[in-house]
Amino acid sequence: MSDTFSLKENFLIGTASAAAQIEGGDALSNWTDWSDKGFIKDGSSIRRANDHYNRWKEDADLMRQMGLQLCRLGLEWARIEPQPGKFDDEAISHYKQEIEYLISLGIKPLVTLHHFSNPQWFEEWGAFEKQDNIPLFLRYVDRMVRELGPLVNEYITINEPNVYAMMGYYTGEFPPGKKSMPKMFHVMSVMAAAHIIAYRRIHRQREKMGFTDTKVSFANHVRVFEPKDPKNPLHKSFARQSEYLFQGAMSKAFMKGEFKLPLRNLCHLKKGEYIDFIAVNYYTRSTVSSLADGTREDAPKNDLGWEIYPQGIEEVSKKLYEILPMEIYITENGTCDNNDSFRSRYICDHLRVISESALPFTRYYHWCFCDNFEWLEGESARFGIVHIDYETQKRTIKKSGEFLTDVIKNNGVTEEKQY
Ligand code: BGC
Repeated sequence: MSDTFSLKENFLIGTASAAAQIEGGDALSNWTDWSDKGFIKDGSSIRRANDHYNRWKEDADLMRQMGLQLCRLGLEWARIEPQPGKFDDEAISHYKQEIEYLISLGIKPLVTLHHFSNPQWFEEWGAFEKQDNIPLFLRYVDRMVRELGPLVNEYITINEPNVYAMMGYYTGEFPPGKKSMPKMFHVMSVMAAAHIIAYRRIHRQREKMGFTDTKVSFANHVRVFEPKDPKNPLHKSFARQSEYLFQGAMSKAFMKGEFKLPLRNLCHLKKGEYIDFIAVNYYTRSTVSSLADGTREDAPKNDLGWEIYPQGIEEVSKKLYEILPMEIYITENGTCDNNDSFRSRYICDHLRVISESALPFTRYYHWCFCDNFEWLEGESARFGIVHIDYETQKRTIKKSGEFLTDVIKNNGVTEEKQY
C-alpha cells in the first residue's frame, strides 16, 4: 500500500486536549479529589500535569510554530465556578485571553464545556445522576457562551458521555466510583437531556447576540465492535449488544432526541437535530466474545494494549453519518506510544483512510498536543506529539509532531518513508 496521499480540499488539522489533563493546580474538582485519594495507578497527581494554566502562551506559540490550524480546548468548570453560583472573573478572563491569543495566531478554537471533570460541589450534589442538576450545568454554559461571545462559535457540550457514565457509574474506576448498570444508563439519559437543552440554548443565546455561525455538537466516543469468531452467533450477538449499549442507543438520543431503552427521555424532549457536525473520538476496535471488552491476540497494539485499527475511523463515522448526514470532525484520535516509535505511522494510516474516504471529513484534531495526565494512568501513558519532562516542564517536539507539521505543510504525505 502506498503511503502517499493528499488531504481533502480545505481539510484542517490541529490538536485536542482537556483542561483537567493539562492545566495542573488546585482546581476544586472531582478529579483533584480522586487523585488526592490515591486512585491514580502510577501515584502521580493531577495537580502537576503540564502546568498549562501558567504556560498557555508558550504552548500556543509552539502550536503556531508547528503550523497547527485548530485547537480543541476545554474549560475547567471547577475553576470558573468553584462554589455554586459564584463565578470567578479571573478564571473567566484567563480563558478569554488564551482564546484571543490562539485566534491572533491564526488557530481556530473549538471549546469543550464538559470533559469528565466536575466542580467538587456539583459532584457532591449528585452531578448528572440527578435530573434536577441539569439547570446547574446550563447556568455555567449560559455564562460562558455569553462571556466568550464573538470569540467562539463552535462548542462541544459534553465529551464522551458513554465513557464518563461507564467508568464513573459501572466499572467504578472514575469518580464517583459507583458500580451499577442502571445508574450508568440513567446518567447517560440525564446527560443526553443536558446536551439537547444546552444545544438549543447556545444557539438561542448566540442568535440574540447577533451571531448566525454557531456550531454545536458532543464528542462521541465510538469503537468498532467485532465478533471474535464471525461465524459464532453468540459472539455476533454480543458484538451487536455491546455496540448498542455502549454507543448505539446513546448516539441516537444525543443526535436526534430519539430515546430507546435502556435510555429514557426524562425531560420529554422532542425529536429533532441536536448537532451541527458529527464529532468523532476514535481510538480502537473491541473484539467481543461476551458482554465485555476484548482485543484480538494477533492485532497490532499500542502501549496500553489497545488495538490499532485505522480502517475503523471510517467504519464508526459511517454509522453516525447514517443517523444524520453532516460534516465530520475527528475531534480525537491518537495513541499511547511512550517512545514515539509508531505514532507517526498511526497518524499517517488514519489520515490516509480519512483522505481516501467518500465521507465528508473536514477536520482532524489529534489527541493530544502534549503528553498529559491520562486520568487513571496518570503521567505514565504518553499520548502527545510534544514530549513533556514533568520535572522541568520542558516541552520538546517529538518526531510525530514534526511528521504532523509536514503533513499540514505538504497538504498530505508526499514521500514514501519509514516512520
Ligand atoms: C478522552 C481523553 C483521553 C483519551 C485517551 C478519550 O477517551 O476524551 O480525555 O485522554 O481518550 O485515553
